[in-house]
Formats: sequence, structure tokens, C-alpha cells
Amino acid sequence: MSVTIARTQPMGQRPTSFAICINMRFQADQPSCAGRGSEDIADALERGIKDRGIDIVLERLRCFGLCAQGPNLRLIPGGNFHHRVTMADVPALLDMLEAACGHRAAVPNIVGPHS
Ligand code: FES
Repeated sequence: MSVTIARTQPMGQRPTSFAICINMRFQADQPSCAGRGSEDIADALERGIKDRGIDIVLERLRCFGLCAQGPNLRLIPGGNFHHRVTMADVPALLDMLEAACGHRAAVPNIVGPHS
């Protein structure tokens, strides 16, 4: 279960992306988000965002400077940090993104004059 540090989204600002750290630190005494499975979490979130048609982009970033608390994610701009995220948290994160961002507009089926 992840830990969310409460911080409010800037008033009236719609999230533009959901950032996940995929940084790997290779020394045994240095914890990192990728060392704790963030790349698999990123893949699962991307699949869920696409399948549900959620209107948000997942950004893979390198290090928020909170390595000991990872995997770390954050809504951009200025959203909550989610710390110690696991694969079990993915459905709840997708629900949160769906509520915060809504769905992409359907692309109209345009039929040209030569169809
Ligand atoms: S490795 Fe993810 S915050 Fe530093």
C-alpha cells in the first residue's frame, strides 16, 4: 500500500501528466525506484491509462530526490507525491487519475469525399 503525502493541486489547474521515477541506482546500499519495481508499475499504468481512455500522459522521470521512499509518483503540476507504490496500488491510482483527468475526447470518424 502506498503512502500519499497530502498536497493540494494548484487551484483550477488540471493535471497535465503523471510522473513516475524510473531511476535505477546500482550500488547495493542505494535504494531506488526502479530497484523496487517502478518500471513494471509504469508499464501497468500506461496500459490502464490506454485501456480506460484516461486523458493524462504518463511521464517516466529520473529521480525526485526521494529515493529511500520509492517508488515515487506525482501528478504534474504540483500534485501529491505517492510514495512506496506497489503493483497492488495501480487500480486505485487509475481510479484517481480517471476522477482527476476524465477521458480523452473520441476522435470523430471522418469520411472523405472519395470514400
Ligand atoms: S530513484 Fe526515484 S526518487 Fe530517486
